[in-house]
Amino acid sequence: MPARILVIDDEDSMCSFMEIMLAKEGYEVSSTTSGSEGISRLRGENYDLVIADLNMPEMTGIEVLKEVKSFKNEQEVIVMTAFASVDTAIEAMKQGAADYVTKPFKVDEVKLVIEKTINRRRLIHENTSLKAQLQTENSFDNFIGNSDPVVRLKKMARRVAGSDSTVLIRGESGTGKDLIARAIHNVSSRCGGPFVTINCAALPENLLETELFGHKKGSFTGAINNKEGLFKVASGGTFFLDEVGNTTLAIQVKLLRVLEDKKIIPVGETKPIDVDVRLIAATNADLEDDVKAGRFRADLFYRLNVIPIQIPPLRERREDIPLLVDFFVGRFCEKSNVSLKSVSQDAMNILLSYGWPGNVRELENLVERAVLLNRSDQLESLDFPGKVAQPETVAVVGENQPANPTLESIEKAYIHFVMSQTDGIKTEAARILGIDTSTLYRKIQRYNLKDELVGGQKRKK
Ligand SMILES: Nc1ncnc2c1ncn2[C@@H]1O[C@H](COP(=O)(O)OP(=O)(O)OP(=O)(O)O)[C@@H](O)[C@H]1O
Ligand SMILES: [Mg+2]
Repeated sequence: MPARILVIDDEDSMCSFMEIMLAKEGYEVSSTTSGSEGISRLRGENYDLVIADLNMPEMTGIEVLKEVKSFKNEQEVIVMTAFASVDTAIEAMKQGAADYVTKPFKVDEVKLVIEKTINRRRLIHENTSLKAQLQTENSFDNFIGNSDPVVRLKKMARRVAGSDSTVLIRGESGTGKDLIARAIHNVSSRCGGPFVTINCAALPENLLETELFGHKKGSFTGAINNKEGLFKVASGGTFFLDEVGNTTLAIQVKLLRVLEDKKIIPVGETKPIDVDVRLIAATNADLEDDVKAGRFRADLFYRLNVIPIQIPPLRERREDIPLLVDFFVGRFCEKSNVSLKSVSQDAMNILLSYGWPGNVRELENLVERAVLLNRSDQLESLDFPGKVAQPETVAVVGENQPANPTLESIEKAYIHFVMSQTDGIKTEAARILGIDTSTLYRKIQRYNLKDELVGGQKRKK
């Protein structure tokens, strides 16, 4: 990706000159002749470098620099100054400018200063992200949440990671079973070995069998070569068996043998071979029910269930929602190169009250969508799909509501929702809400909804 540069200079000719010269060098350049316009762009977007003239009438380069540093301290800024006023350049350096060039300048000199600054920035950036990666890779830190059940499950996972025992991870779809399985592998003594995963629900029985255990050449039509089973591939590492509830009884017998004897027999072979894997299984099915119904072998169930890790659905640990929202907003703002957006109280309220049938995966997807749709620096309830603010879910303030939104905040969110659905037509909104228009006016005033709705509609255009 080319580095992005913003040039701020009150002289048009200087802006176009810099644009042409730097574009030739392969940078992505844009420019503005106004300091305040430059600032507002910097609030909304990320630039690797700002080049600002010090001597501008409306807002001086020093003022621009100070302002930028106040909200984006890590922003690299190079200042340009007339030869006669080196003192101001020194002042700029004190205020945090990365470097300065004096006008009139030699093109090569400017290129060099820019290259140096950008390289330094890249290094700093790489360094911090490497450090962060090292820190999180070896822990459960990237499993976000500090609700009681999550704290307990992370403690449990950390403890079992040190052993070689089988783990069964249980939880609804999208609760983070994959994430926990990988984290356990990453902190275990097997972290240097492979992490191999297979989804038992994705393959028909015969394919699943040869995938898991391998087969001998000629053992069936189509077996033109020997094939190594994934249990063998995972040797020295961890084997993650996802949706283990979707296996047939025949496969279950073979899995049991792996767990008991640490051996597999490839299809078409007679001699067992040794395997050295740690097994982590996951399911979102009720295995106890499957055992009762005879669909799942009881002996395998007890073998797998040595250490159960239960991840509760998101609706049962709503206090994790704000943390997860912040985490994903941060991640997606960074990914799409916009400065960090905040989340309005209204938006947070509807997210807190929603039922999250798709759990964290659904939340992750909705936040990503909202970040992409939103054009301001704050996510509003309108940035989330209507279903999130649906009356049914807004009205669900029941036992699983640790965040305790007030009745008022729910009423406000709901009025906001209906108003947005009716494009602000108050008579229509009042009819749906079952109140008369004057009452609606009063509530709009009381909850200060007018400004928010105007803002929301402006954005839509
Ligand atoms: N506590 C969490 N913190 C951060 N990200 C999470 C958390 N839980 C889940 N995620 C993210 O949500 C998404 C779904 O998680 P994951 O794939 O682990 O769920 P799963 O339980 O395996 O779902 P399925 O049953 O559908 O396979 C992933 O992108 C994952 O990174
Ligand atoms: Mg999964």
